[in-house]
Amino acid sequence: MNFKLKNDTFLRALLRQPTEYTPLWMMRQAGRYLPEYRETRKRAGSFLGLCKNPDYATEVTLQPLERFPLDAAILFSDILTVPDAMGLGLYFSEGEGPKFERPLNDAAAIKALRVPDIGKDLKYVTDAVTQIRKALNGSVPLIGFSGSPFTLSCYMVEGGGSDDYAKVKTLMYNEPKLMHHILEVTTQAVIAYLNAQIEAGAQAVMIFDSWGGVLSHAAFHEFSLAYTHRIVDGLIKEKDGVKIPSIVFTKGGGLWLESIANTGCDAVGLDWTIDIGIARQRIGSKVALQGNMDPAVLFASPDAIRKEVDQILGSYGYGSGHVFNLGHGISQHSDPEHAAVLVAAVHELSRKYH
Ligand code: CP3
Repeated sequence: MNFKLKNDTFLRALLRQPTEYTPLWMMRQAGRYLPEYRETRKRAGSFLGLCKNPDYATEVTLQPLERFPLDAAILFSDILTVPDAMGLGLYFSEGEGPKFERPLNDAAAIKALRVPDIGKDLKYVTDAVTQIRKALNGSVPLIGFSGSPFTLSCYMVEGGGSDDYAKVKTLMYNEPKLMHHILEVTTQAVIAYLNAQIEAGAQAVMIFDSWGGVLSHAAFHEFSLAYTHRIVDGLIKEKDGVKIPSIVFTKGGGLWLESIANTGCDAVGLDWTIDIGIARQRIGSKVALQGNMDPAVLFASPDAIRKEVDQILGSYGYGSGHVFNLGHGISQHSDPEHAAVLVAAVHELSRKYH
């Protein structure tokens, strides 16, 4: 199944090849800000009901593309499917975000951790990838994704979201060997998981290191980046003669751009705290950049949105190598009409830079 894409602007930008305009997609583009998503979720019964049923996952993946001329689709799933497959028991309680029934709260649980059987326990994800690729019918590329081992470990040890990461940091400082064991097993799982997504049809992959930015300089390199690096090394780089680019996104990673670019990834995702022009000066000869508008800009007026888009495009400047995105996921309280303004503004205002 190697048909030609109608719109491969996103893949070309990731490989820093010439494009006619700056492509874009939005993190969490399929989600609660869309009324049609909320309607499908109601039918599915729950968020996990959406993720675990390839028909529903396909339906919601396509929803934002039906509304906006986005340049990429992203698999509808969650980073926490991997620890769920490792037996931790993922569930979502209303208003409280993700939780685990069996978090890693002692050495015995950590030592018992095993790489899941991806072909069996995560088959619903690879089935969704195959089905989404068929439904996209060559229109735009499909992005596969995973959490970074450190970010996954945060949830696995804390048992859910956290404000201070006290449990996972205590483990990391008191029992670094146990922490490394979790990271090691998770790294093996993530490599197998991303490669299974690529085999099933993902045309680019993204690693979300959402919480790497809460670490000290030394801890980030030892407990987060070293494992991300191993994942990038272990990825399938080319399928059927076509490159499969990888994107590494570390929220709060602005201080470590050079180290992140040195993992061998094709692109680095930026949150909104760094000027993208400065990021380009630092690492733009090595990797493409993805980002980096503050998602809160979408709460502002269409004029303000266009102004911010123009500023970011101008700061990046002339030439390829930029995939426009938000610096983190779109808020559930965003107005879809404002997302439409963003998409149109990026496509229109970026042409002069190419
Ligand atoms: O971008 C996309 O459209 C693809 C789908 C996607 C989801 N989660 C769907 C989702 C992706 C790429 C993710 C990644 C993810 N999940 C991350 C990394 C990215 C980031 O945001 O930093 C993290 C940390 C998670 C874990 C997770 N899943 C949390 C913290 C939550 C609760 C968030 C909230 O706003 O309440 C989820 C749930 C989740 N994942 C939703 C969606 C659409 C909302 C679920 C719902 O419908 O209630």
